[in-house]
Amino acid sequence: MSHYQIAVIVGSLRKDSFNRTLATALAKLAPSEFTFKQVGIGDLPLYNQDDDGNPSASVKRLKNEIAAAQGLLFVTPEYNRSIPGVLKNALDQASRPYGQSAWAGKPAGVIGISVGTIGTALAQQHLRNILAYLDVPTLGQPEAFLQVKEGFFDASGNIGPESKPFLQGWMDRYVSWVQQHAG
Ligand code: FNR
Repeated sequence: MSHYQIAVIVGSLRKDSFNRTLATALAKLAPSEFTFKQVGIGDLPLYNQDDDGNPSASVKRLKNEIAAAQGLLFVTPEYNRSIPGVLKNALDQASRPYGQSAWAGKPAGVIGISVGTIGTALAQQHLRNILAYLDVPTLGQPEAFLQVKEGFFDASGNIGPESKPFLQGWMDRYVSWVQQHAG
């Protein structure tokens, strides 16, 4: 395969989200055959199993965008030591009806940035648990638990010089993972 479309799922709806900034900055570290598209999850209704037979337009759109991608990138904050509800809702929405999950088999990376010192470690661990069940092959190493600090992003929103080598290494491993596992 010569081109890889990546669906990026950001776990924050906040306009000035650090995780959204991180997702945008990370995309610039990938080779040119990779295209990253942030998938909207803020317009999804709350998951209700009664709607499985008649999903809303936004749920259909989400599932189509996941289906069209060769890989997934989850960039999420930690809320109360887990993933934000909006992200869990998106995971649930695109996993149903039973047997028609959009996630299965799509190679993924998990990363996140937080103002707290544990750098989304617990949120990422919870997310990995969900992704294992959803049959999403997820990059194990390197793990990246990032904390917002002065200079992490430069004035243009790119990764600052101190963190760039580590995150370039992370992206290189992610790229190989997707190439290895994309169907
Ligand atoms: C947080 N925050 C937070 N941080 C953390 O490291 N561990 C946590 O468990 C929590 N819990 C939490 C709950 C809720 C409801 C909010 C709103 C925030 C702080 C969080 O890291 C910070 O708000 C980030 O800026 C959120 O990411 P975005 O929106 O900037 O991407």
